[in-house]
Amino acid sequence: MNSFPEDVFSEPEDIDPDTLANLGPLRPLAGIWEGRKGIDLNPKADGPERREYIERIEMQPIDPQPNGPQLIYGLRYHIHINTEEEDTTFHDQVGYWLYEPATGLVMQTLAIPRGQTALAAGKGDAKGLKVRAERGALNYGIASTDFLEYAFRTDSYELTVTFNPDGSWSYVSDTTLKVHGRDEPFRHLDRNTLTKVGEPTPNPLYLIRQKQPA
Ligand code: HEM
Repeated sequence: MNSFPEDVFSEPEDIDPDTLANLGPLRPLAGIWEGRKGIDLNPKADGPERREYIERIEMQPIDPQPNGPQLIYGLRYHIHINTEEEDTTFHDQVGYWLYEPATGLVMQTLAIPRGQTALAAGKGDAKGLKVRAERGALNYGIASTDFLEYAFRTDSYELTVTFNPDGSWSYVSDTTLKVHGRDEPFRHLDRNTLTKVGEPTPNPLYLIRQKQPA
């Protein structure tokens, strides 16, 4: 059951161009962030490997996005991770955090260069966010290459974000993998705390409207 309207084409009138003012529970994520104490548990041939990592995340507001009557505000993000020992990329991820004010729906899209994408959904409030995607779901699902399906089947992804009183935020990323030849599911866990190193740049439509005479 859903409560979608019959008219799927008409867009809302008077859309507020100020994305930063309409991000709801995503607002604390806007900006540029760094964290030096990330911990990753990843699958290797001779068992789980635990690595510490350094992370930089940029999350910038995008212009409001109407899907017909559905209005979405969001942030475009890029996560880049390396380690103290190596300058090469340890993990790279791009996507959007999205928020629909009318329903409270929170979504995260993610793409990682292993040939994997996901659309995770959930809710958020002033304390934090939780989103989840499941392999096989037609709405909030996970799509992987044939090789990953065979060797590292990704059954679920769940991200929990906690907003800390000092303005930093922490996450736990819990990805369940079925590794080829192993019976037990593998929990690929990542966690870190991010501290702000730069403010967000307001979205393009907002900046254009600010320059126009009233
Ligand atoms: C902070 C976030 C993450 C870090 C630092 C990280 C890091 C890693 C590392 C180091 C490996 C082992 C790579 C190798 O041996 O080739 C790995 C494997 C993997 N990761 Fe992540 N990962 C992160 C998040 C994710 C997420 C969110 C997903 C999917 C939703 C994911 C899916 C996978 C898969 C499917 C593999 C196995 C593929 C392979 O080893 O070739 N990872 N990850």
